[in-house]
Amino acid sequence: MIAIAPSILAADFSKLGEQVAEAEAAGAQRLHVDVMDGHFVPNLSMGPVVVEGLRPRTRLLIEVHLMVTDPAKFVQPFIAKGADLVIVHLEVLPDARPLLSEIKAAGKLAGLAINPDVPIDAFIPYLPMLDLALCMTVFPGFGGQPFLPESPDRIARLRRLIEQHNPRCDLEVDGGIDARTAPIAVNAGANVLVVGTGIFRHAKGITAAVRELATL
Ligand code: DX5
Ligand code: ZN
Repeated sequence: MIAIAPSILAADFSKLGEQVAEAEAAGAQRLHVDVMDGHFVPNLSMGPVVVEGLRPRTRLLIEVHLMVTDPAKFVQPFIAKGADLVIVHLEVLPDARPLLSEIKAAGKLAGLAINPDVPIDAFIPYLPMLDLALCMTVFPGFGGQPFLPESPDRIARLRRLIEQHNPRCDLEVDGGIDARTAPIAVNAGANVLVVGTGIFRHAKGITAAVRELATL
């Protein structure tokens, strides 16, 4: 089963609730919330208040992707506002285990992300405790970037590692996913697709975009 996680970074924020409701009705399974601190990535985005606003408006799983230099500071505030899954970046954590354990101890799902320039094998020590491994398919910071060509090989390697170490762990991809690249990512082994521009800026609208992705 492939799950679609619309990234609200590409939504029209003047009608965020309506656009999320449309994506949910069209068959999306999750909401992806990109949190950027202007330090780990050269862009600023949203804080826990956005999760607080969305939580009563949707039944979808809310996943928070923390692209921040100090994720330990923000895990609890996002959980308090209703995040179901928290994804942290390995690049800022000398040892990600304590923070992943903290997320699990709060009864939430734990995810770990790595950038395109980090070897996939860096996931190995963490896989047994992960609910989700996020293979970035662009350098994080902005929506609308092209899917990096080295991604399929990286996804395939991660799929092999997941089968070996923790087959229940989801393999998520994020960046440049649309109707053209989604099948490439899925064939390589991804089962959760983050899609921002490809849903919220699709020429035929949100419903058509989600349905198209769901039938690939
Ligand atoms: C990139 C973010 C992504 C982004 C994806 O820094 O982590 O989640 O919103 O956007 P698209 O689908 O437009 O590449
Ligand atoms: Zn993201």
